Amino acid sequence: MKNICYSLLFASSILMACSGNATIDPLRFDSTKYTEQTLAMADGQTIHFRAYEGLQYVTNVEDSTYQTLNVYVPATADENTPIFLRTYVGGYMAAEARKPSAKDASGYALQQGYVLCIAGSRGSNSAVEVDGKKFFTGRAPAGILDLKAAVRYLRHNDKVMAGSAERIITDGTSAGGAMSSLLGSSGNSPLFEQPLKSMGAADESDAVFASVCFCPIVDLEHADMAYEWLYGCTNDGIRALSAEQRVVSQELAAAFPEYINSLNLKAKDGSAITADKYADYVKQYIVTSAQSALDSGVEIPANIGIRIQGGKVTDIDMPKYLSYVASTRALKTPPSFDSQGMLGNRPSPENMLFGNSEGSTVNFTVYCAQKNGGAVDEALQSRINMMNPMYHLSNTSDKAQHWYVRHGARDRDTAFSVPVNLATKLQNGGYDVNFALAWDRGHEGDYDLEELFEWIATVVK
Ligand code: DHB
Repeated sequence: MKNICYSLLFASSILMACSGNATIDPLRFDSTKYTEQTLAMADGQTIHFRAYEGLQYVTNVEDSTYQTLNVYVPATADENTPIFLRTYVGGYMAAEARKPSAKDASGYALQQGYVLCIAGSRGSNSAVEVDGKKFFTGRAPAGILDLKAAVRYLRHNDKVMAGSAERIITDGTSAGGAMSSLLGSSGNSPLFEQPLKSMGAADESDAVFASVCFCPIVDLEHADMAYEWLYGCTNDGIRALSAEQRVVSQELAAAFPEYINSLNLKAKDGSAITADKYADYVKQYIVTSAQSALDSGVEIPANIGIRIQGGKVTDIDMPKYLSYVASTRALKTPPSFDSQGMLGNRPSPENMLFGNSEGSTVNFTVYCAQKNGGAVDEALQSRINMMNPMYHLSNTSDKAQHWYVRHGARDRDTAFSVPVNLATKLQNGGYDVNFALAWDRGHEGDYDLEELFEWIATVVK
């Protein structure tokens, strides 16, 4: 009798497991549910691929508009094909899972034969209505949680889906570049474990292989001081700040050297980049950028501060060059990021990002919080850390081995030092980093696609 009971129990549990397979694993990818689609590229080629769209990557969906991903599989892809994971996050706002575009890296990735995944994610503006009340779904760190859940979904289904989840290359621009850098720097970080579990993300690794970051708007809590340190030299010129603004600018800039020293950055030759050497270090990236432009036949105007002798960039008059940058697009006013409550400024996208589900906007730097009579408490600091790749690079996580970081040499959305620090910290960590300030580029991404995909081809070889 005892035995029969046991065998009955055993048999029924197998039955439950089998019959319930579809229901107990709602994150299982169904390879039969696709449509055949095409994309006409600018060069006249039409790409054919299978489209798997609207896939939910968590079981506890809070915002069905954004928490989905699309997968596009070209005919030639097999299980080893790298997966290009594009996010369209901008301004730290929500982004839907879009279709491939012939105009950016998504279409190009398909044309090159990569599996393409476009993941949606919640963001600072996403909201749902609960009991007649607006509930903001995407305040930090929701967006990066969603993208991590998407990575976990790809790994969870690696055996039943074309493409290799061990070869995911992330790509994004600006706040999306920040998201890409977070995916690359915070793989399996313990900070995200519990929230991902609560969301019903697959119990898998969320580490990625490579990250492509165009003009990443990162290190938010130090971005204001970096901006004033760099652009402060224009305050009496093209920027024309008020006396009050100038005080804020000077106070912020004054705090930057200490931050730089705390980073313990090292140059390629191993020497320390202390605050006293830092201005020169940043300048060298502009020199390299201008030189490569010169070498490729680009004409550099004589009046923008680039000193050239015999085809060589010998030096840069930084105030002059930065004034030129500011002439192409007006600079932000201080504080550039944590603007809320400061000198009558309105909340920035970043103030929204760190707000709560009721739609609040908050200061996230000690400087501005204190000026407004507040503080950055532990809970907020933890969310700020989650959103900063610089934090992850100094803490436990599985980092991407390969990095491609670009920031326009006249992009004034954040200071050049922000991507410079990210790239330097990565280099110092021993990762493979391809970094440049791209000459004559503003705040944009997915350019020089040929060069980018040549780089991708070498790292996935
Ligand atoms: C973006 C641009 C910004 O200047 C900023 O502060 C945050 C995000 C963006 O383009 O995504």
